[in-house]
Amino acid sequence: MRKRTVNKYELSNLIAERWSPRAFDPQKKIENRTMMSLIEAARWAPSAFNEQPWRFMVGHRGDPTFDKILSTLVEWNQQWAKNASVLVLNIGKKTFTKNGKKNVVFKYDVGQAVAFMLVEAMHHGIISHEMSGFDPEKASEIFKIPADYQPLSVTAFGYYGNSSDLSPELKELEFATRKRKNINDIAFGKMFGDCFKE
Ligand SMILES: Cc1cc2nc3c(=O)[nH]c(=O)nc-3n(C[C@H](O)[C@H](O)[C@H](O)COP(=O)(O)O)c2cc1C
Repeated sequence: MRKRTVNKYELSNLIAERWSPRAFDPQKKIENRTMMSLIEAARWAPSAFNEQPWRFMVGHRGDPTFDKILSTLVEWNQQWAKNASVLVLNIGKKTFTKNGKKNVVFKYDVGQAVAFMLVEAMHHGIISHEMSGFDPEKASEIFKIPADYQPLSVTAFGYYGNSSDLSPELKELEFATRKRKNINDIAFGKMFGDCFKE
């Protein structure tokens, strides 16, 4: 299903066609090689002092890592994310490796790397849905994640399935119009809050 952006200015299809579906096809698999391209995209994201604080637990449906990541999700997310082909637990390193100092932008950098993965996924015809509805403590325990690392989110990747298989509640969200703030509300000119001259 397509839910293309309604954009005033030109956009590449990789951005314009991305959205966060829940109707994943439970039959389809993502080739490991393709998944590696997504990780490669994350790897080449920029980061403060080139620390690259991102780490990823990658589980393909049918393997124990997938089931473990799924078990950390809130029920609301589990009901549809179980049909994803791959679940990725996104983890961030809280300190700089070279001096042990606190890295205040580690979440920013991990988010950026995840965004790179989502865009690369689009290039391969793969849909994605990010989730913060999960239990980070449980994830740390299950995967023995060291204290210096923080589980931040989970991303579901896969292929579009059948929206009529969704519950009525999920179906409504699936077909809801995508909304965004206006450009004037997010980009400013002379002072914060001033209208930006488009
Ligand atoms: C960090 C983050 C956490 C999110 N958590 C959830 C979640 O737990 N469950 C869910 O169904 N969607 C979740 N979403 C998806 C957002 O609701 C979605 O991206 C937003 O509504 C915009 O829709 P679009 O991606 O289709 O443009 C999350 C997205 C992000 C970036």
